Amino acid sequence: MLADIMTVDMRLTAIRYAAQDTNLYEFRRLDAAALAPVEPGSHIDLNLPNGMMRQYSLVTADGDPAAYVVGIKRDRASRGGSIFIHDQLRVGEVITIGGPRNNFPLNEDAAHSVLIAGGIGITPIWCMAQRLKKLGRSFELHYACRDRAEVAFQDELSALPEAHIHIDAEAGSFLDVASIVNGARKDAHFYCCGPLPMLEGYEKATADVAPDQVHAEYFSAKEAAATDGNYVVELRKSGLEFTVPEGKTMLDVLLEGGVDIMYSCQEGVCGACETVVISGTPDHRDGILTDKEREESKTMMICCSGSKSPRLVLDL
Ligand code: FES
Repeated sequence: MLADIMTVDMRLTAIRYAAQDTNLYEFRRLDAAALAPVEPGSHIDLNLPNGMMRQYSLVTADGDPAAYVVGIKRDRASRGGSIFIHDQLRVGEVITIGGPRNNFPLNEDAAHSVLIAGGIGITPIWCMAQRLKKLGRSFELHYACRDRAEVAFQDELSALPEAHIHIDAEAGSFLDVASIVNGARKDAHFYCCGPLPMLEGYEKATADVAPDQVHAEYFSAKEAAATDGNYVVELRKSGLEFTVPEGKTMLDVLLEGGVDIMYSCQEGVCGACETVVISGTPDHRDGILTDKEREESKTMMICCSGSKSPRLVLDL
């Protein structure tokens, strides 16, 4: 969903241990003013002092929060974001935060919700579970980790009858996502956030479920960026046009052309670069738009998507 995103300076007011390599980071406004309301599934952008911008899911959604809390795992394969946060960021520092933005909204009216998380993918899923519990809605939560030390929110989840924790190392197998999906009632809504292999298994398992009942959040690129090039991108508002050559993304070309664009993850998972399409046929490569939204092509993520038509006209 396309929306203007506010930015605000916030202070890191607490860091709490959540699990092995995973901490909870709490941010509060400097002026103690009210924060933008939060929905489950939302994330915020952290503009880090090292120049990087990273997105992290909020772990609580109280509607009108006093603080934003995100769970961050120290990813050994990190491109610098999570390692910087774990190793350098200290309580008291002030950073600029953007959002919240929600690419993973919860249908609070579903007759039953099936929440599936892998690893740090628990953060938006736990947020959804808290909301559903508060509303008294029917749901179940399945959370897979490689070993028990990696389980976040252990005490809270142990006290939640709807939660089932799967430890790969103890079970000797991965979580059987297909069985969970096949065993659920037909009108259930499904949500999954986790590593790519889990999401791929989830997509296969839900292939026959009505698309509006299937929800997923990717935190790394779902598909390779479109670099086939050989199309013209016209920016209607600014009256500019550029030819995208083979080997470059649209974002590369627009940035080289000095166009001022909002972007962040550059891999189609955060939604920061979502842009209205006026005409043409985008080659969608993001992990955010649903199949129906891809078909309608009212918007596109210009960081990773390209064009199937020789000319693409954008509302920029
Ligand atoms: S910059 Fe994140 S989706 Fe494009």
